[in-house]
Amino acid sequence: MTALVRGDAVVVPVALGARSYDIVIGRGVIATLGTRIAALRGGAKVFIVSDENVAAHAMPAAQAALKRAGVASRQMIVPPGESSKSHDVFEQVCEAILDAQIERGDLVIALGGGVIGDLAGFAAAVVRRGLDYVQVPTTLLAQVDSSVGGKTAIDSRQGKNLIGAFHQPILVVADTALLDTLPEREFRAGYAELVKYGLLGDAAFFSWLEAHWRDVFAASSSLNSAREHAVAVACRAKAAIVGRDERETGERALLNLGHTFGHAFEAACGFSDRLLHGEAIAIGMVLAFEFSARRGLMPATETERVRRHFAEVGLPASPSDIRGTLPGIDHIMELIIQDKKVKRGMLTFILVRGIGSAVIETGVDEREVRAFLNEKLARR
Ligand SMILES: NC(=O)c1ccc[n+]([C@@H]2O[C@H](COP(=O)([O-])OP(=O)(O)OC[C@H]3O[C@@H](n4cnc5c(N)ncnc54)[C@H](O)[C@@H]3O)[C@@H](O)[C@H]2O)c1
Ligand SMILES: [Zn+2]
Repeated sequence: MTALVRGDAVVVPVALGARSYDIVIGRGVIATLGTRIAALRGGAKVFIVSDENVAAHAMPAAQAALKRAGVASRQMIVPPGESSKSHDVFEQVCEAILDAQIERGDLVIALGGGVIGDLAGFAAAVVRRGLDYVQVPTTLLAQVDSSVGGKTAIDSRQGKNLIGAFHQPILVVADTALLDTLPEREFRAGYAELVKYGLLGDAAFFSWLEAHWRDVFAASSSLNSAREHAVAVACRAKAAIVGRDERETGERALLNLGHTFGHAFEAACGFSDRLLHGEAIAIGMVLAFEFSARRGLMPATETERVRRHFAEVGLPASPSDIRGTLPGIDHIMELIIQDKKVKRGMLTFILVRGIGSAVIETGVDEREVRAFLNEKLARR
């Protein structure tokens, strides 16, 4: 997968036949949103979905760009946070899209983080049996992960992301300058997903992050395009995997590195501010490394490097970094088993043979996971 450099923007193509699209990455690229949309869908109206925090920072720039290109827009602003991925808010978004007389051929724009991308993307998937939509991701997590690949969903009482659809956007516009207003803790949590691409398949990228992470965190400029480079590497990696396995029947599962352990701790903390998704995934990835070493897949020194990097950037790297009490091993195992397809006590895990080399391991014995986690929890 190659990226073309056009002016200040890097364009990463996602090759999915008739559902192919571009990811446009760069500082200030939101200014080109209107012209890009007009070029893709001349005469289309757009309906922007955003949240209160994002709208305060990014809505004026999005609207101005659309107006300059003569694209008519309406918008809906929902409360920030995971609670907006609810049946109620979803219904409101769908009705508002219909109220705005958005027809087939018009567009929905998701302007926000992963919550807005999942919510607006799912509304686009079902309103009028499917509208095209554009992702304008405004968190680091959304720019390197959730805006690419077409997974959309809302939450159920039974769990997160259980009601949704695969629905690819027709364009992703990732303006790295929008990340300047992101709270640092959110940026850092998204950074864990960036590291994930190095750990699962690109050892050289992990080494690059070890050397350049401060530049990725720093607001970028023409002199320093580390952030744009990092987002582009991640998008290229995700685009390649999604291009080969759009519906996660195989390889796409590698993107879940650290997520089985991570989700369990995230759920144990009630999906609250106590532990953000990316923080949970950082812990989950270190656990996946430790568990892999324990199974003899690789030397323990690799784990040390990962742990050191997370500590340096200020991410948690072990369950003992989680504040407050955690449930016992029985409850944690229930959460893990709920999250996974279990066949006769055997779990599927994403394990590693070293930095840059993740593998799908199907026959992991539940009892082995329990013994491993029990030790980890005892050390808290
Ligand atoms: N579809 C997928 O493939 C996929 C992948 C990973 C995660 N997700 C989903 O993504 C969601 C998490 O996404 P997230 O971490 O982006 O959370 P989020 O969308 O809730 O954003 C985090 C916080 O940052 C604020 N914010 C966003 N952009 C901002 C900006 N530029 N300036 C200031 N504040 C800003 C938001 O209002 C929110 O308070 C979860 O629901 C998860 O399930 C989906
Ligand atoms: Zn994740």
